[in-house]
Amino acid sequence: MIENPVEVDLVHCIYTSAGTVEFDKEQIVSLLDAARINNSTLNVTGMLLYDDGAFFQVLEGDREMVEKLFEKISKDKRHDRVTKIIVEAIEERDFSEWTMGYSGVSKEDLKKITGLNDFFSTKKCFTDLDEGRSKKLLSAFKEGQWRATLR
Ligand SMILES: Cc1cc2nc3c(=O)[nH]c(=O)nc-3n(C[C@H](O)[C@H](O)[C@H](O)COP(=O)(O)O)c2cc1C
Repeated sequence: MIENPVEVDLVHCIYTSAGTVEFDKEQIVSLLDAARINNSTLNVTGMLLYDDGAFFQVLEGDREMVEKLFEKISKDKRHDRVTKIIVEAIEERDFSEWTMGYSGVSKEDLKKITGLNDFFSTKKCFTDLDEGRSKKLLSAFKEGQWRATLR
């Protein structure tokens, strides 16, 4: 039996958005509960960050599933300024154990990530991230102390 079959059209999609409503802990939990059930059916994994009214999300899975899910999420009225940053093929998933890992990191935390200090030291939030910085953020959450903050 092949334990980890190669997934043929595996992609990740990274986007940022701005909440249109205040998200308190309860609202995030309810969003995550629904997302995790759906994602497990779609075989989509990933992570979601929320700070100061802005989201950063990585969705990974089969291209078609990820694109359909992204379309659905973009129409969600709870956020706007949904900006797709990257959709690209990947060899393997970075968050295979997470149907949607979540971290409510603060700007103070984010300043500690190498290469992002200058960015988060100003008033900027996720919605101002470009592709290069998004990849730095993703790399940080792939490993070590940052990965450990995912819940
Ligand atoms: C920032 C944000 C991230 C979301 N992430 C996901 C997700 O990863 N998976 C998902 O199914 N829904 C996600 N949703 C919720 C969807 O937009 C939608 O409400 C949810 O899939 C429920 O759809 P249903 O009523 O068809 O089950 C997200 C919503 C927001 C605002």
